[in-house]
Amino acid sequence: MKATIAVLAGDGVGPEVSTEAVRVLRTVAECHGHDFTFLDALVGGAAIDATGDPLPASTRRTVEASDAVLLGAVGGPKWSDPSATVRPEQGLLALRGLLGAFANLRPVQPHPALVGAAPIRPELLTGVDVQFVRELTGGMYFGRKSLETDGPGQEVATDHCTYSTSEIERVARVAGQLARERRRRVTSVDKANVLETSRLWRRTVTRVMRDEFPDVTLEHALVDSFAMTLLRAPASFDVVVTENLFGDILTDEAAVLAGSIGVLPSASFGERRADGRRQGIYEPIHGSAPDIAGQGSANPIGTILSAALLLRHSLNLTDEAAHVERAVGDVIADGWRTADLWSAADQSAPVHRASTTAMGAAVVDRLRRIMS
Ligand code: IPM
Ligand code: MG
Repeated sequence: MKATIAVLAGDGVGPEVSTEAVRVLRTVAECHGHDFTFLDALVGGAAIDATGDPLPASTRRTVEASDAVLLGAVGGPKWSDPSATVRPEQGLLALRGLLGAFANLRPVQPHPALVGAAPIRPELLTGVDVQFVRELTGGMYFGRKSLETDGPGQEVATDHCTYSTSEIERVARVAGQLARERRRRVTSVDKANVLETSRLWRRTVTRVMRDEFPDVTLEHALVDSFAMTLLRAPASFDVVVTENLFGDILTDEAAVLAGSIGVLPSASFGERRADGRRQGIYEPIHGSAPDIAGQGSANPIGTILSAALLLRHSLNLTDEAAHVERAVGDVIADGWRTADLWSAADQSAPVHRASTTAMGAAVVDRLRRIMS
């Protein structure tokens, strides 16, 4: 198959980890006879430095001409002055808006060999397999913002949180469909005891699930108690659907279960196009990690697994996606570890300390064996 993939490496460790994911995608193309074209484009701080705009027009054009976007990370101390009016993160949000990527999938399934790396009792991690569906283009992230002066030394800042019925319906459907391919349970997380948006969220999710997914069990949870149960009984959840800001916070919390945020991927997409393809953004859930950027020590697995999601969700290459996931699983089982997982490595097995590129090479190696 022919596909065009936009590569937005971004800032910090973004270029290092996306290089390894591209290497993996090139290997998939080579072994399966696909024709992938990679188009590099600027985003975030790197784009601000070059053009003054975190998502310049040239990048928008590249993205619009591509089947999928592979993204590294954006942000860093250089651009994070609180008074700055142009910020790297705006590029990421604009990209999500541009593609209408309202559904953000964040799967959390701790690898058995990494259970010892999580600060959670191992028996609680058995069988953990949570699929987060975070709403990505609404809520406070995209609401009206204002900053007003109300007398000397008094400023008033406002971030509006808005959700409409249709915005909630479409993300609830994504959750329902995913639940059908899994254990048929959806937990919807909100703050309906306080927020009007959450009450609309709860009513709408209840109706969509009742009318369209009667075979799926729905439960509601308040975000504060969910945050606690996620660590006390993580294996009790299947699909978790929630609004933008809650999803941002809860998925970082969930990363603790996987041993390192460096191993978690994400996929963001909107509706299918007329040709059946679904353009999406694929990125690790970790940030740009400026403290370790340029050292070759970042974990590329989150980005490599994001590339697997790209193959599955945007290119419909399900076998290839499974091969990449298997290669990553095998490499972890074989003891390959980047610095984020050194100290916590399972002492019962030999450990191979790997740089970012060595980890990428180990995955590519294993992938070639699986695919040959
Ligand atoms: C994420 C990140 C982004 C978000 C930032 C970088 C804007 O934290 O993808 O989770 O808050 O959505
Ligand atoms: Mg986040």
